[in-house]
Amino acid sequence: MPPQPAPPPAPDSTTAAIRANYARVAGTYAGQWAETLATHGRALADRLALNRQTPSAVTGAAAAVAAAIPASEAVTGAATAGVGSGVVGRASGPWVVEVGCGPGLVLRHLGEVNPGARVVGVETEEMLRQAPAGFGRVVGDAQTLPFGSGVVDAVVMPFVLFHLPALAVALSEVRRVLVSGGAFGAVTWAGHDPHPAYDVWVRVIDEHGAPPDPSPQMPSNDITSDPAKLRNALQAAGFGEVEITVERFRHQPTASEFLAHSQVIGAMARRIGQLPPDRRTACLAVAEEELGRLDPDAFIESGTVLYATARAT
Ligand SMILES: C[S@@+](CC[C@H](N)C(=O)[O-])C[C@H]1O[C@@H](n2cnc3c(N)ncnc32)[C@H](O)[C@@H]1O
Repeated sequence: MPPQPAPPPAPDSTTAAIRANYARVAGTYAGQWAETLATHGRALADRLALNRQTPSAVTGAAAAVAAAIPASEAVTGAATAGVGSGVVGRASGPWVVEVGCGPGLVLRHLGEVNPGARVVGVETEEMLRQAPAGFGRVVGDAQTLPFGSGVVDAVVMPFVLFHLPALAVALSEVRRVLVSGGAFGAVTWAGHDPHPAYDVWVRVIDEHGAPPDPSPQMPSNDITSDPAKLRNALQAAGFGEVEITVERFRHQPTASEFLAHSQVIGAMARRIGQLPPDRRTACLAVAEEELGRLDPDAFIESGTVLYATARAT
């Protein structure tokens, strides 16, 4: 019987704060920005499609795991009108898991490029309730994955690694749940080009005396934005065949899209959320006025992302 995971420790406060931020915006995590990220998630999924793996990677340890996990704890894709939790095993067939799947914008594509695979998203309950039907949904944290050991054929984590305070623990967890030879892929932020609209937004918020963001955001970005450091972290966690490429991202909202999105998601949204209502209203009015005067190109958010793929050794 494969070793089973130890009971999860209490999530630390950084993890709890980051997860709570996303849980709060689960119902509004949508639109052009979310789609831009999901486009990269889908491109990552294409690179990891199971039919490009060695056959041994997809035959896995399914039967042994099915025997090891009580049926009552198994969460099956078709059955998840609700959301499951607990340690999960599988009955048959390859499993593809997106850890930190948000509202599930990449899940359908993962299913399309991995025909026959059971696709499962791991997230907070709030996010999973937004996810499309027909996929496995398991409440869980990347640092204590809710799966038995050696049961998953592929794990993808688009735009998640930098959020994890215990990055090394999470990568070891991913390695633990993967079958030998199983595939891993991540996309992470690398560099940002100048973004004049964001600079105006920050300045106006500063001028209105908004307190600092109370929440940490990207505790592992120093590692995950650097190809050499990310490669080392993956190798230290038991991955081989590490490939990292630096690619471009680009997103261009209109002024009103920028303002609407920026009030809901991110550090500045949390900052203005702490202002008293009258100051907040004044701040938004000034921001709207100043942003409305900018050239459309000032709203282009662009830069680089890292695509990392690796195989469990
Ligand atoms: C930028 S969103 C990306 C969502 C999705 N992967 C995509 O590309 O569309 C980051 C997601 O990471 C999740 N996340 C943050 N910390 C996490 C953790 N410790 N374990 C699992 N997911 C986490 C958040 O809940 C959030 O939904």
